[in-house]
Amino acid sequence: MSGDLKWNKILGAGLATAFVVITLQQVTGAIYHTEAPEKMGYFVDAPEEAAAGAAEAVLPPDWGTVLPAADLAAGEAAFARCQACHNATAGGPNGIGPNLFGVVGRAVASHAGFAYSDAMQAHKGAAPTWTLDELDQFITAPGRHVPGTKMSFAGIRDTNTRVNLIAWLRSQGSGGFPIPAPDPARQPGAAPAAPVEGAAPAAGAESAGAESGGQTGAAPDTGAAAQPTTAATPAAPPASTSPAPPNN
Ligand code: HEC
Repeated sequence: MSGDLKWNKILGAGLATAFVVITLQQVTGAIYHTEAPEKMGYFVDAPEEAAAGAAEAVLPPDWGTVLPAADLAAGEAAFARCQACHNATAGGPNGIGPNLFGVVGRAVASHAGFAYSDAMQAHKGAAPTWTLDELDQFITAPGRHVPGTKMSFAGIRDTNTRVNLIAWLRSQGSGGFPIPAPDPARQPGAAPAAPVEGAAPAAGAESAGAESGGQTGAAPDTGAAAQPTTAATPAAPPASTSPAPPNN
């Protein structure tokens, strides 16, 4: 009899435990109710980024329009990303990178007391001056614009940020560097009409083509985007213009 009682207790304890566990499951199930997602996985929706990137690759900023409207305070804030390596005050020291006071319009690789990389020294041959376009392209992707540069910085992809930053840099000792006149060929609507940078010399591009072509020697990827549509047309005429007599 005492043995039966002992088993009753054990059984009872087991049932009670099971009851508690089941109840807890129900309760937590009710509290932490999860539903299966309709679609699995992450969907990263960034078409605008891609579009902006493409536009940026084709058209350089229209400095005459964007510089006067630039946000200098935002540019100064953006310079925080450069400050680990650069000082931009008059007579300020070189850091990991050269002092940038007056860098807009300054000769490339020319700041006293700084040991530039061979790559930057060589870049001087192709682009002797830090023009607005040169700075813009360098800051966009330093390692792509000057392969081998020792400026280990990924670059700033956002055009607005670069424009503000360059406007601010200009205000630090480069105020005399002229702002060019607004250039319609660089305004958004002009994208398909005027292939920028070197490509398609016969396209009859206005002054902009000559101007930027001089600054940047080669831009193979920008040209590719503009070519397919325009290239087809000039190829046809020569055949029809020579109705040569098929005699002899
Ligand atoms: C990690 C350090 C580092 C950061 C961050 C950095 N730079 Fe540099 N920068 C350098 C170095 C190093 C050089 C020299 C490059 C060479 O000799 O190849 C340089 C060179 C330059 C030059 C060329 C100057 C000249 O005298 O020819 C410019 C312009 C420049 N940097 C602008 C910037 C700007 C603008 C930013 C911020 C958006 C920035 N850098 C961020 C290290 C840096």
